[in-house]
Parts: sequence; C-alpha cells; structure tokens
Amino acid sequence: MITNHTVVAAAHPNLALVKYWGQADINLNLPNNTSISVNLSGATTTTAVTFEDELESDRVTLNGENADLHTYNRVMTHLDRIRTLAGGTKRARVESYNDFPAAAGIASSASAYAALTLAATRAAGLNLDIRELSTLARKGSGSACRSIPDGFVEWIPGQDSDSSYAKSLLSCDYWDLCIITVYFGDCEKEVSSLEGHRAATSSSFYHTRLYELPRTLQAVRAALRTRYFPTLGMAVEREAISMHTIAMTSTMVEHPWLSGIYYWQPETLHVMKAVQKWRHNGLQVYFTLDAGSSVHLLCEAQNLHVVMRELSPLLDKLGGTTLISKPGRGAWVLDKTHSASPPWIHRVKYS
Ligand code: DP6
Repeated sequence: MITNHTVVAAAHPNLALVKYWGQADINLNLPNNTSISVNLSGATTTTAVTFEDELESDRVTLNGENADLHTYNRVMTHLDRIRTLAGGTKRARVESYNDFPAAAGIASSASAYAALTLAATRAAGLNLDIRELSTLARKGSGSACRSIPDGFVEWIPGQDSDSSYAKSLLSCDYWDLCIITVYFGDCEKEVSSLEGHRAATSSSFYHTRLYELPRTLQAVRAALRTRYFPTLGMAVEREAISMHTIAMTSTMVEHPWLSGIYYWQPETLHVMKAVQKWRHNGLQVYFTLDAGSSVHLLCEAQNLHVVMRELSPLLDKLGGTTLISKPGRGAWVLDKTHSASPPWIHRVKYS
C-alpha cells in the first residue's frame, strides 16, 4: 500500500569507463552494449518523496525551484511506473537537491533517477532489491541503472526490460582511485546524449566499435580485478576516443548543418594533450570524456597531489574548475537524523 511517509534517498552520479553509446530500444532505454562505470563520491543528489492524499497533481522541485515542463513530465512518467507497481494513484511531492553545479558536465540524470527510484519505491511501500531498482531506474534514464549498485558497476544490456540492469563488480573501497572532473563553466552542448545515442548507428565506424568492445571490456574487468592502473587507464582513454569517434562521424538528421557531433571545446583538447605529456614524463594519469566538454582525469590516490600540482597552472590559464571524487557507494536511504543532510532536508516533515 502506498504510504504517506516521507522517504529521503541519495545517489551519486557515475562515470562510464566503458561507455553506453547507442540504443537497442529507445522507449525502454535498452543499450546496444555492456558498459562499466564507477560512482563519483564527490557529487550527490538527495531526493525526498512523499505521496499525499490531498495532492491533485505531482509537485516536483529541483534545488528549491519548480521543475521545468520537460523535467516535470519525465519525473511524472517515472512516478506513474512506481504507482502502477504499487497499485495506487496518490500524487507525490518530490524535492530534489544536487550538491554539484549543473555546469560540471556530470550527468545529473543518473543520480537523479537513482535517488528518485529508491525514495519513491520505498515511500510507495515497495521493497525492491538492487536488480529491480536498477531495472526501474534505467527506464527513467539509461545510465541511472549504474548509480544503484555500489562502487565499480557493470550494466548488462539484456534482451528485454527485465534482463537489462546493472550489478556491482567491485565495492567502492576495493581500489583507492581518484577521479578529477575538470569543467569549464557554461559550455552548453548543442546535441543531447539522447540524440547522440539515436544517431550512433549512422556512423560507419559503429560496427567496428561494437566488434572491439568485448576486448575492451575484458581488459577493463581484468585491470580492475588486479588493480593494474596502466592497463585500466589506457583502455579507458582509448574507449572514450572510440565513443567520440562515433559521435563525430554520426549523421545528424535533426541538425543537418552539423557534419557530426563535436562535444569537445578547445579547453578540452588542451587538457587531453597535457595529460598525455604528463604521462610521457612518467606520471600515471589518464582521461575520459562523456557527452560534453568536461574532462575526467583518473589517477591512483597516491598521485593525486602531483596531478593537481600539474593541473592547477593549466586551469588558471584555461579558466577551469575541478571536482574530486573517489569510487562511491550505490544509492542509499537516509535515516531521519542523517547529519550530513543539506539544510533543505530539515524542512521536510517526517511522519
Ligand atoms: C556519454 O542517456 O544515460 O554519458 O542524458 O544523462 O540520461 P542522460 O544520459 P544517458 O547516456 C549517457 C551517455 C554517456 C556514456 C555513459 O554514461 O555510459
């Protein structure tokens, strides 16, 4: 039965080490390939959900502001999935808060739909396991399925909706890695990742990518298991370039003036080149890139201060900012006395 209790849940966004790019089913967010990610401890979405008898429609706020229509409809569709599972019709009040800037180039939809799925299912009286939560979160946003399990995570593409979910490969404390996200303010991207997924198969290199992926996945899994950083780093860096090669060579039906998708800005390339130069000089650091201009640097914790020392003067020149993460836990429910809650949580009435 749908309760009237407030449930607060939190989740980290995740960074793909092997990317999800291209969909087998657009409506169900089924991917064409297996992907591997790590949760980013440096960024968190916290979401409170209460189903209320008195509400005539769902209420959705993000960082204290009413959600725009597109976001509202997407959240409502997700709440409808949960109402159908719970067998009820009560409308919900959803308050969501991100502790990281929108401009950071970190996909907030992953942490948003992971936290929403966990909070809303619990508030609706459902007690789903990790696989079920991951499957459900995926319907809200593909990569959200990877923010449910702990640490280093693999998304199994599956054949249908119930068989497409993510599971933990290794816990968050298995390997003391650091992820430095470098971002450059308001570099608004012209093409969403949704459009990128849809255009991917138009690239003549897409089949080559899919052909190579099993080898990449094997290399990444083995390097994670053995904690062998040079193999992990090189596989991850080459994999990011592979995804961007597809983006750059995709045919953009909805943007006919574009010859392909270029997510990079000049600053992005500056950082990529610098990383390769530092490596040539003996520093073990690698990069990966998502569908945006930000660059994510990977290093082992013992090298963080050296990487930051190299990076700082470059960022002074380029005007970038950093956010530092370690491998993060999977989505979790906050208890009512959680001391690390952002201030807005205290305004939520618990019953
Ligand atoms: C490049 O469709 O999950 O980050 O727009 O955030 O819902 P949202 O993205 P999604 O695609 C993610 C694409 C990617 C690679 C990845 O995370 O695997």
